[in-house]
Amino acid sequence: MTHFLDIHKTDPADLRVIIDAAATMKQARHGRPKGALDDEQPLSGRMVAMIFEKPSTRTRVSFDVGVRQMGGQTMVLSGSDMQLGHGETIADTARVLSRYVDMIMIRTFDESVLSEMAEYADVPVINGLTDRTHPCQIMADVMTYEEHRGPITGKKVVWAGDGNNVCASLLHAAGQFGFDLTFTGPAQLDPEDEFVGLARSKGSSIVIERDAFKAVEGADLVVADTWVSMHDAQSARERRHNMLRPYQVNESLMSAAKPDALFMHCLPAHREEEVTSKVMDGPQSVIFDEAENRLHAQKAIMRWCLDV
Ligand code: CP
Ligand code: NVA
Repeated sequence: MTHFLDIHKTDPADLRVIIDAAATMKQARHGRPKGALDDEQPLSGRMVAMIFEKPSTRTRVSFDVGVRQMGGQTMVLSGSDMQLGHGETIADTARVLSRYVDMIMIRTFDESVLSEMAEYADVPVINGLTDRTHPCQIMADVMTYEEHRGPITGKKVVWAGDGNNVCASLLHAAGQFGFDLTFTGPAQLDPEDEFVGLARSKGSSIVIERDAFKAVEGADLVVADTWVSMHDAQSARERRHNMLRPYQVNESLMSAAKPDALFMHCLPAHREEEVTSKVMDGPQSVIFDEAENRLHAQKAIMRWCLDV
């Protein structure tokens, strides 16, 4: 069974196949209406279930559209409406869903839900975000970087803010695609040591730098994300904002990076908090290409999972 659970759990050669396939499929659709079918219909006759235990705009719509463009059908399930939210085990849910659908995408809280789903499902399972990682996002980000600037290998990427789930997948990608990552943020919100160590063990230079301006020197790409993730307690909001304010990505910080540095954000963004509108809407920002590339990257991930 080929699941797509995390970037560090996927072979680098397969990751490259996915990114290249995504770019080819995007090119092939150039100029077509969004609802037009792809020339190839690899998901014809296939049913994909998408389970959401947290809100979503991009993941939900891009997976749904992607499956349909490839000829498949989708069903979107909310965790709380399913028996999953009322005491049925993940393992039983996985076994039941496997009798109805050909693939499962799940967005959940604890990553143990994802791993249990993958362990017991007889169909591929895709990670649509957990508290700990967000691999589909980072596949789209790698695709977006390469679309604008060529190979990401050897580049310097800077993550500014909270060392959260998206940052974790970016660290995984650093190891697998061979780029360097500098994290700049408060010590309380450092990324997990395990993931830093993993990227370093694969030869990437991973630097922790408390000074945001020093961190972005020589950066090819600056990445930000919300200061309060969906799994974070709202009561921690003010404390987190106070800690994270020095790490806001604004024009002054961007001007300390390389002149051709790109800016990325997985969205949803909180304008004037982690990033200013001037940067989000400025010439270095590729945030809407990133959002679009969720569609193409995930189509390639689904084809890879199903080997179609
Ligand atoms: N970036 C991302 O995953 O967005 P959604 O939460 O809207 O799916
Ligand atoms: N870190 C954010 C990403 C949202 C796509 C969260 O988990 O809420």
